[in-house]
Amino acid sequence: MKVLIVGSGGREHAIAWKVAQSKRVEKIYCAPGNAGIAEYAECVAIGAMEFDRLAAFAKEKQIDFTIIGMDDPLVGGIVDVFEAEGLRVFGPRKNAAILEGSKAFSKDLMKKYQIPTADYRIFDSADAAFTYLETASYPIVLKADGLALGKGVLICTNLEEARAGVKTIMLDKQFGAAGNQLVIEEFITGPEVSVLSFVDGSTIRIMTSAQDHKRAKDGDRGLNTGGMGTFSPSPFYTEEVDAFCRKYIYQPTVDAMKAEGRPFQGIIFFGLMLTEKGPRVLEYNARFGDPETQVVLPRMKNDLITVMEACVDGKLSEIELEFEDNAAVCVVLASDGYPVKYEKGFVVEGLEAFEKQEGYYAFHAGTKFDSEGRIVTNGGRVLGVTAKGEDLKTARANAYQAVEWVNFENKYCRKDIGKAIEGI
Ligand code: AMP
Ligand code: GLY
Repeated sequence: MKVLIVGSGGREHAIAWKVAQSKRVEKIYCAPGNAGIAEYAECVAIGAMEFDRLAAFAKEKQIDFTIIGMDDPLVGGIVDVFEAEGLRVFGPRKNAAILEGSKAFSKDLMKKYQIPTADYRIFDSADAAFTYLETASYPIVLKADGLALGKGVLICTNLEEARAGVKTIMLDKQFGAAGNQLVIEEFITGPEVSVLSFVDGSTIRIMTSAQDHKRAKDGDRGLNTGGMGTFSPSPFYTEEVDAFCRKYIYQPTVDAMKAEGRPFQGIIFFGLMLTEKGPRVLEYNARFGDPETQVVLPRMKNDLITVMEACVDGKLSEIELEFEDNAAVCVVLASDGYPVKYEKGFVVEGLEAFEKQEGYYAFHAGTKFDSEGRIVTNGGRVLGVTAKGEDLKTARANAYQAVEWVNFENKYCRKDIGKAIEGI
């Protein structure tokens, strides 16, 4: 079969790599793709938001199955456009992708169906938010309702900061229309875990757990980024936590979406916080995590296409997911200065070392070919160097060894990825 993947980051590289393992797949296209994805797929210069052009391309090339990697096109309704053209596509429709697209929607859904999450209030006007903040307790969390590249969440330690935050989101509209509504949330604490799942509208199958490091600097200091690294599984995700989440979070979310007339087919990413009172949902995403995917898919034994088709066909109950009994760590190699200001266009050397090594991967996040056909840096996050190992400690040592194989000017990475708890 012929497969089209929509997206251009490390997540889509990991998806393309995994799809390429399938014996059922003869040709992969990726729009727009990147220099690493080009190893497995023919990259086509169509943007992820150009729905009509993408659908026309899929028809012209007789694509059998399209996978949407990114949130923006999903929330914008790309799946509906493809389905209207009679194309098979993996991902939630617009009315279900709202689970990620609107935090106000997802908070109200959780409240209505008693899915554990932090207490919250929703505001349509800055004035009402300002009034509420006068008597609130601190710290407090402000969230722009819509998609904001992971930057729309502000943790405010006092009234002054919170007032400034409301102004940034609702009046200055720093995140555009995403700030038309504001969620103000209770501040909760505990380790964070990412759990990805496949969903077919009714049935949910849980993947192995992962954890990411969002801050730019070691010790979880510095600015928030798109993710500086991940590891899988999370030692915090115990059997007890898993049992709780299966009972009170995972299936209840799928059932809630169905009951609302918004059956969810695709990936639900549960962003969890393990508080003293038990697991709470921090957020839902309607797609694979980036860079969680880079540590989860290399450990998955199933044929990805078969599982995704089962989601689209409502046959996920016939499938059991299988994961290797090991661990994986992904260290993001970034351009120094990310996420603020950085240079790009530097030649990346040493990538050939990964071709010879089983269990080591260089997933490209921001690369491209220059006019001489060399791979050069093309973004803040450049590569997700990933390695497996029999346990977290070994995987971590392997990943940091592989980090040394690659070189480019202004290469920067955190040194503590995968150090979840003392001794690892
Ligand atoms: P989100 O995009 O909703 O996952 O939020 C981004 C990050 O903000 C999370 O990964 C948490 O570290 C933090 N965060 C979000 N909500 C809360 C909350 N209610 N209490 C404490 N931290 C939070
Ligand atoms: N790594 C977090 C995300 O993909 O949203």
